[in-house]
Amino acid sequence: MIAMDKERLKALLKPVESDLLAFDKGLASALTGDSPLISSIAQHLIRSRGKRIRPSILFLTARAAKYHTEQTINGSLAIELIHTATLLHDDVVDNADMRRGMESTNFKWTNLVAVLMGDYLFAKAFRLMVATGSMDLVEAISQATERVSVGELRQVEETSNFDLSEEEYLKIIADKTASLFSVSCAAGPILARQNGEIRDRFAFFGEQIGVAFQIADDLLDFIGDAKVTGKEPGNDMVTGKITLPLIYALRHGDRGKSNEILQLLGNGIGKGGFQKVLQYVQESGGIDYAYKRANQIAKEGLAIVDGLGKSDYYESLLGMVDFSISRAG
Ligand code: IPE
Ligand code: IPE
Ligand code: MG
Ligand code: MG
Repeated sequence: MIAMDKERLKALLKPVESDLLAFDKGLASALTGDSPLISSIAQHLIRSRGKRIRPSILFLTARAAKYHTEQTINGSLAIELIHTATLLHDDVVDNADMRRGMESTNFKWTNLVAVLMGDYLFAKAFRLMVATGSMDLVEAISQATERVSVGELRQVEETSNFDLSEEEYLKIIADKTASLFSVSCAAGPILARQNGEIRDRFAFFGEQIGVAFQIADDLLDFIGDAKVTGKEPGNDMVTGKITLPLIYALRHGDRGKSNEILQLLGNGIGKGGFQKVLQYVQESGGIDYAYKRANQIAKEGLAIVDGLGKSDYYESLLGMVDFSISRAG
């Protein structure tokens, strides 16, 4: 994370600082000691440390809506461990060598080790969600995890499908990414035993924020700086992952130019062709359009939590929504 994003996050997360401290402690203790190999990978994961967006919005929504309970920490840990497990597997799938500005687990160790460590993290997550004592949360997190797999598999199915529609793309990212955001926002109401209608509203809020977050992530693959994102840009294109800026450009860009780009993409662009495609996507308005869509979608989510009373938590929640879209990394 760059200093600017780091400072911004730190200020935004001030109201839930103590929750995040408890979360960090819980994470370290969940990941200690089952074998020397597990310990060294766990150390690597803790040191490289992600943005902790899912636990942060879980705490902020729970606190803003007065649904905080003593089980929210275990719930947040389960979700973050599942997220981390999916990243280990995702980097194998995407053949990525960099994650969070450091060597990815698959690159530093092997694909074999990354897959097995991912499984281990899933198992740890199961135990933590069971420890919350809420069958409803177990159900919600299990369903979200299933959706992540569906989204990742759908994405594989659609690899290099340059006809992919915006609607299909949105469905895939909702499954692979928004599912965990959604359950993060619903966790507070679920643990506080609120009714289905309230749970659904918070789940919808998280769903929209998650979709906006993934659109922003996909944008960063075009225009992000590796030093900031901690991930190599252009990787989506190289691996045949078709995302919103390109989908828009292919449908609205100059016909002749689009055919040229399609030919280039069809032959496998390699790292060299990336700049050319980027310029085409930019000139066709794909970057601007994707930002516009991310903002629209987030706004639909925000409308749902409009009724929450004013508080520092609520203000920070709004800030986190904005951060999810406008972050540099
Ligand atoms: C990365 O998620 C995977 C996506 C859903 C885009 P994050 O950007 O939240 O990853 P970390 O945990 O901060 O590294
Ligand atoms: C999100 O997709 C990964 C998961 C939901 C597991 P990406 O492939 O875009 O994530 P990054 O860019 O590698 O972080
Ligand atoms: Mg990836
Ligand atoms: Mg990505």
